[in-house]
Order: sequence, then structure tokens, then C-alpha cells
Amino acid sequence: MQNAAFEARRIDAVYIPVSIPPDRIRKSLAGLKRAGFSGFNVTVPYKETVIPFLDGMTDTAKTAGAVNTIAIDRRSGRWVGHNTDVHGVGMMLRAARINPAGKKILLIGAGGAAKAVCVAMLGLAKSIAILNRTPSRARRLRNSFGAVPREKISVLPTLAASGEFDILINATSVGLKNSDKLALPAELFKNASAAVDLIYNPPVTNFLRAARRAGCRAVNGVDMLLHQGARAFELWTGRPAPVAVMRRALAKAIRR
Ligand code: ATR
Repeated sequence: MQNAAFEARRIDAVYIPVSIPPDRIRKSLAGLKRAGFSGFNVTVPYKETVIPFLDGMTDTAKTAGAVNTIAIDRRSGRWVGHNTDVHGVGMMLRAARINPAGKKILLIGAGGAAKAVCVAMLGLAKSIAILNRTPSRARRLRNSFGAVPREKISVLPTLAASGEFDILINATSVGLKNSDKLALPAELFKNASAAVDLIYNPPVTNFLRAARRAGCRAVNGVDMLLHQGARAFELWTGRPAPVAVMRRALAKAIRR
């Protein structure tokens, strides 16, 4: 989608994958610095690793404790770390007309994607309850927000103690395989108005299927992917992202 965007905007640039083994991260980033790139993305497992190499970070990236986009200032050569995943979450919800304001959220998962959801929704939602296979990780995620009141972000040990939620969000990797299934009670979906799965391939997971059956608005994560990329494009080029072009390129790549 980035290369389609460069082409549409007639920008002489290319987006390439660079695979970096963990023991070479320091040398590789130094190499990127010398090579004169305008910017780059980092993904799992480097969204936190990259932080010590940066010259600055946006407030959102600081709150998220993770960076997925680095924009390099052409004149000074400064590396600034951004978290466009958080922006992607907000845009995905807006595109689906899901308004988290005053809503009770159930967030399943406690990894990097779950953290981006928390940062994007915390200021608006009434409450966020985190449910994760490994509860200690959910507690760590909750504690990373420090002074936030317990009733605002809580950790659920099991779904038995869960109650009712307005918006359900799957931020785990369960669903990437068609046979994957989260063990969630049907009532959970009956009480909710919307369900979001950050997984975009397959486009409809078992989680979203269950949500649809219960009459919830069901949304996958493709718009999050699209909009984190669109924002990154704007940071690198200073030009508006051709979002429709990027959306088409993305859809084509996912179908492949
Ligand atoms: P990401 O950055 O994409 O969020 P991650 O940090 O590896 O990736 O997080 C993956 C999430 O999926 C975690 O919440 C993980 O649960 P654990 O913290 O218990 O590992 C969750 N997950 C992965 N496989 C799972 C499974 N089979 N059942 C339930 N949760 C699972």
C-alpha cells in the first residue's frame, strides 16, 4: 500500500522489507541511519527495542511505550518515533461508526496491539476490562497506565466475573487460523452492540461470526492497518495520504 501511495503521489520512493535478526539490531539501525532513509516502520518484536535509538518520541508513542513509525528529519537527521497504531485504532472505530464514549469495553489480549487499543480508547471509554490468557501480562498492561483508577481499567481473571460490555475487542492472535476459536459465552455477544477483531486476514474470524450471529456490528482490523500506514506516509512525505489508493492496494495484497 505504501508503494501504491508513492506511485499515486508521484513520489520517487520505495518501501522495502528489511529483515533484521535480533542480534544485529544495533548495527542494522546504524546502517539505516547512514543510508539516508526518510523513515521506516518497525514491527513485532522491535516496537520497544527501537526506542533507545531514537532522538525523540511523540507523547502518544511515550504513553504507548511503543513505536511503529520512525520519521527522519532530512536536515538534522533526527529520528522521531511515532505510534501510528493508536491513530489507526481511532480511525478504524470512526470508520465503523463505533463511538467508545461512555462505553464499557472488554479487551481480550494484553500484547502490543491491546496496548494501542487502550491508549486510543482510555480517554473516551467508561471502562476497559482486560481479559488475557496470562493474567499477569494483563496486570502489567493495566499497571503501565499508572495513576488510572481501578474502575477505569480492570483485569478480569476469568469471564465468569465479567458482567456486560458494550464493545468487545479481540486483540489476540486467536483467529489467524480459520480453526482458531476463543471460548466466549454467547451472552457476551448478545449484550454487546459492537465487536472488533484486530485480525484482518481472514477477514471474518470465528469471533466476528459469533458477533454477527448475535446481531452485533462486526468489524475487522483492516482499517487499523490502513490508517496506521496512511499516517506513516504523511509523516514521511509531508503530503496527504491517498487513502483510497492504499485501501485498494491493501485489499489486493490480502486477497493474494
Ligand atoms: P501483538 O503485539 O500483536 O499484540 P503479542 O504481544 O504476541 O502480539 O500478543 C499476543 C496476544 O495474543 C497476547 O494477549 C496472547 O496472550 P498471552 O499474553 O497469554 O500470551 C494472546 N494469545 C496468543 N495465543 C493465544 C491463545 N492460543 N489463546 C489465548 N490467547 C492467546
